[in-house]
Amino acid sequence: MGDLDYGQDHATIQKISSEIESIYKRNIQISIVVGGGNIFRGISAASIGMERASADHMGMLATVINSIALQNALEKRSIPTRILSAIPMTAICEPYIRRKAIRHMEKSRVVIFAAGTGNPFFTTDTAASLRAIEMGCDLLLKATQVDGVYDSDPKHNPNAKKFQKISYSEILAKNLKVMDASAISLARENNLPIMVFSIREPDEMVNIFNNKGSYTLINEVVDE
Ligand code: GTP
Repeated sequence: MGDLDYGQDHATIQKISSEIESIYKRNIQISIVVGGGNIFRGISAASIGMERASADHMGMLATVINSIALQNALEKRSIPTRILSAIPMTAICEPYIRRKAIRHMEKSRVVIFAAGTGNPFFTTDTAASLRAIEMGCDLLLKATQVDGVYDSDPKHNPNAKKFQKISYSEILAKNLKVMDASAISLARENNLPIMVFSIREPDEMVNIFNNKGSYTLINEVVDE
């Protein structure tokens, strides 16, 4: 969405795809779970009276729209991609099949996972944890609006303290809002490290792979 109030910001899509291109060129296997909040937020619609399952279905369709935009931007950069949707819509993209997704990654394709987990009541974050575990990923990068996990919302509290590292359990115990509890629990049960970084900072995704940048590492072991 970038600085728009709604929809897809071309410059932001270019920024994200250029960073993915840089990482891809280092022969790092990449799969991406795309959200849809720039187009439709299921939870917000539910809060004003829409049935949650219907609202979440609309949100999942929004992720397909974003996936197609990202696929287009990546393929313009000659990066082969495949979109796999958790809700089959075979005229547009492939249905999600775990072994097919792994095969695509082995063939150096960037895999874009659309439609979340395919189920209402589950967030994009949970879909990201789930897919990362299913794909055997070494790391989940959580792109967000701020540069890590804080003890309170840094947008509202200028004294909010950022964690360099934090454990899954501490996030759950303190009810920190970085990702929902299902996503964090799934990561904890499967020892999936998560790095939270700001999608707004230039080249931050690339910086992370150069051992630079600003982020929070969520892991079980906190050695400080
Ligand atoms: P490999 O056989 O492993 O090399 O994979 P591939 O994806 O190149 O081969 P496949 O023949 O499965 O797909 C060829 C093209 O058709 C690719 O662009 C796929 O994304 C696309 N494709 C495959 N299955 C579907 C589908 O169910 N729906 C849609 N819309 N496209 C599909």
